Amino acid sequence: MFYSEDLIEEIRLQNDIVSVVSGYVRLQRRGNNYFGLCPFHNEKSPSFSVSPGKQMYYCFGCGAGGSVFNFIMQYENYTFPEAVQFLANRAGISLPEQEFSEEARRARDLRSSVLELNKTAAKFYYYQLRSPQGQRGMEYLKNRALSDETMQHFGLGFAGPDGKLLYRYLKKQGVSDQLLKESGLMQVNERQGMYDKFWNRVMFPIMDANHRVIGFGGRVMGDGKPKYLNSPETVIFDKSRNLYGLNFARSSKENYLLVCEGYMDVIAMHQAGFTNAVASLGTALTSQHATILKRYTDEVILTYDSDEAGVRAALRAIPMLKEAGVSTRVLHMNPCKDPDEFIKTYGTDAFRERIDQAENSFLFELSVLEKSYDMKDPDSKTRFFQAVAAKIAGMELEIERENYIEAVVARYQTSYEGMRRMVLNYLMQGAPVRTAPRPSVERERRTEKDSGILKSQRLLLTRLAEYPELFAAVSAYVRPEDFTDGIYREVAGMLFDQLAQNQLNPARIVNHFTEPDQQRQVAQIFNTDLPTETIEEQEKAIADSIRLIISNSTEQRKSLLEPTDLQGLQNLMMESRKRMADLKKLHISLPRGKE
Ligand code: GTP
Ligand code: MN
Repeated sequence: MFYSEDLIEEIRLQNDIVSVVSGYVRLQRRGNNYFGLCPFHNEKSPSFSVSPGKQMYYCFGCGAGGSVFNFIMQYENYTFPEAVQFLANRAGISLPEQEFSEEARRARDLRSSVLELNKTAAKFYYYQLRSPQGQRGMEYLKNRALSDETMQHFGLGFAGPDGKLLYRYLKKQGVSDQLLKESGLMQVNERQGMYDKFWNRVMFPIMDANHRVIGFGGRVMGDGKPKYLNSPETVIFDKSRNLYGLNFARSSKENYLLVCEGYMDVIAMHQAGFTNAVASLGTALTSQHATILKRYTDEVILTYDSDEAGVRAALRAIPMLKEAGVSTRVLHMNPCKDPDEFIKTYGTDAFRERIDQAENSFLFELSVLEKSYDMKDPDSKTRFFQAVAAKIAGMELEIERENYIEAVVARYQTSYEGMRRMVLNYLMQGAPVRTAPRPSVERERRTEKDSGILKSQRLLLTRLAEYPELFAAVSAYVRPEDFTDGIYREVAGMLFDQLAQNQLNPARIVNHFTEPDQQRQVAQIFNTDLPTETIEEQEKAIADSIRLIISNSTEQRKSLLEPTDLQGLQNLMMESRKRMADLKKLHISLPRGKE
């Protein structure tokens, strides 16, 4: 930690979690908490909660959770110090000079160092392109109709023909081989030792949504192979979570995003004014990409290549986007191969027209499906309509099914009644086996692993944080030492201290821990719920957990005694008997009329 706990606390207090999260997630109040769709996994009904009282968020679907710092770290992909800076800035709190001292810089973690290195490399390539040695690269890019302004906007660069240029440059600045290896900028072989991964290529820096360089794509200037070379995955570069161009597209005013295949396509579209274009990085679109896209838009227009590979890629992407809650249309590029070529050949207005004409993804799927049937043969045609009906039967809403039946009837000139009955048949057979969404599966797996005792401990800590008035009754029976798991005991100790001093502050406890994993665990500890209905049932559940926690604690202490320690055993048994007798007096009463 580079910042004092008091400063962190000050920043946290000035950034109310509900107001911060509202900037990213649409929240609705329900009781004392706010709920919304979790930005960290795909879901259709809200299981993401934000508690103003606890100043914490927690997702009952995927287990994401923590304080306002964790939210910013998770959402913006920031390190802890970066999240601190971000929130300090948001609250207008200036951070003291010495926080950026030499020592703090040295203490920065690997991620920051690799980020720094990628930035240095991007600058290096950038200047190379604009120097006499970069002439070949400059000519190549100009030939591809890129303006100086566009090249500058995207930070394009050039790696010269000498395969050790960047290596020597970075070595001169004292960068260690170890760090160079982690950076993804170098490769190693026995003969040459370490040398540049990229040479003799025009360079496309890949930036994350916050304009930070996290990797590169390098293109040969001509027909060599491989056409593109991409940075390997590193601590900062995960291809399945980043989209090229998103740093600009996220602030575009359009309410849809254009998703294409290539670097050059993104750049060509932005240059033509379509600044809402992004591309996956030489990989197929993943469900993580879909989740990220959903953060910024409800609609995607796929502008994939018109070849067979592009069609296949679109067919794979559509259901993933649908699962994430994004509706999709498909833009027809023919007779051109890709957006870059289209815009060059037909111009901006023609491209905008194609955007307006982009086809609904379901109808696109049907056009592809149709190709594997002989529509002139009645049997084959029937089978096609059956396949269509089965797909429609899989849709969730009746109105949706109705609309698609109408669209199919209009397009294929078939009978409305016939189509509707076929869909009904499939529905009655229970055809639409909707795949269970991922989160609930994960949730099940987690609860399975949970032992009952940890759950009791969590439940008690959650309730104490929600109803501090319980503390007097609870603390007469339970001590922090009764919590058996390391982190539970630590959390209990801090919570009991806070409650004893009448200074309840769960978010502060989260921030006491430094590892994101621990912080997530603490968030879970403070967000445990049992499916109990009435207040009486809840009170009983709390009393039950207290009994279980105490008897378990005795058991555990017993197992820690030396087998020969008869005196110890006797003391323990006596104490335990007294505690159990005391427990008969335990009375838990929750405030009535408070939710
Ligand atoms: P140009 O051919 O320069 O117009 O680029 P493009 O972006 O149109 O390339 P293309 O449509 O062939 O490929 C789409 C994307 O796939 C590229 O932007 C790269 O991210 C990736 N890609 C293409 N070729 C290769 C390759 O040889 N190796 C790797 N790793 N990725 C590639
Ligand atoms: Mn191309």
